[in-house]
Amino acid sequence: MPCHPPVTPNDPFAQLARERRSVRGFLPTPLNDDTVLELLQLARLAPSGANLQPGHFWVLRGPIRQRLTDRLVHAWKNGQQETEDYGYFPQPMPMALKRRQVASAQALYGALGVAREDRAGRDAHFERNFHFFDAPVALLVTMEHAFGSGGYMDLGMALYGLMLAAQSRGLGSCAIGALASYPGLIRQTLGLGDHVHIVCGVALGHPDPDAPVNQTITSRCEPEEYVRYLD
Ligand SMILES: Cc1cc2nc3c(=O)[nH]c(=O)nc-3n(C[C@H](O)[C@H](O)[C@H](O)COP(=O)(O)O)c2cc1C
Repeated sequence: MPCHPPVTPNDPFAQLARERRSVRGFLPTPLNDDTVLELLQLARLAPSGANLQPGHFWVLRGPIRQRLTDRLVHAWKNGQQETEDYGYFPQPMPMALKRRQVASAQALYGALGVAREDRAGRDAHFERNFHFFDAPVALLVTMEHAFGSGGYMDLGMALYGLMLAAQSRGLGSCAIGALASYPGLIRQTLGLGDHVHIVCGVALGHPDPDAPVNQTITSRCEPEEYVRYLD
């Protein structure tokens, strides 16, 4: 079975899911607050265990967004390190997953024309995470720290709902896990308490069709790698 079956014209979900990609280059066209709120409300239609609807979406604007970006860039450039609020990648990374990670990096830096050994070029792109890729809307996603893994699963569904809702309106988005590297700095800058876990950022806006970075196309492994049948 092919991984991406052909989209039938009558299947709007398949089309949305296939066409969504992480967007890292945006037009300056602003989004109004009502649009953002509507997308977030659609995202929150995601199911959650016992309907607890965990997590918060913070819309970062004006000086506070700039201050956060400045402080993140400063910390990163100075090699500051913090312990993340939650674990993400397996440690150590198995070779099969490492290959997927490398392939996604190659897709990204290939689109940008940045060579593997071009450390400065890679760094210049990586810094853009902390600028929310200059998207007109910058979101921070947080989780009440008392939640376990299930809460993150619920929040992930809402995040994907947000991405698809954006896609359905011709908007683009990119989750920014890079922000999770600086939970303490973010809490301090935004005046958040220790009970707030920093999950990720989200960049949201109109995709720039001419941005090379938006030509990044990732693949997915074949079903044989993740579907198992037991009789
Ligand atoms: C939770 C999460 C965190 C992510 N963090 C980053 C990030 O920090 N920077 C980035 O450029 N992309 C980030 N991504 C985007 C992934 O690299 C991307 O989803 C993956 O390579 C698949 O590509 P696609 O979204 O275009 O299908 C993140 C995605 C998710 C779901």
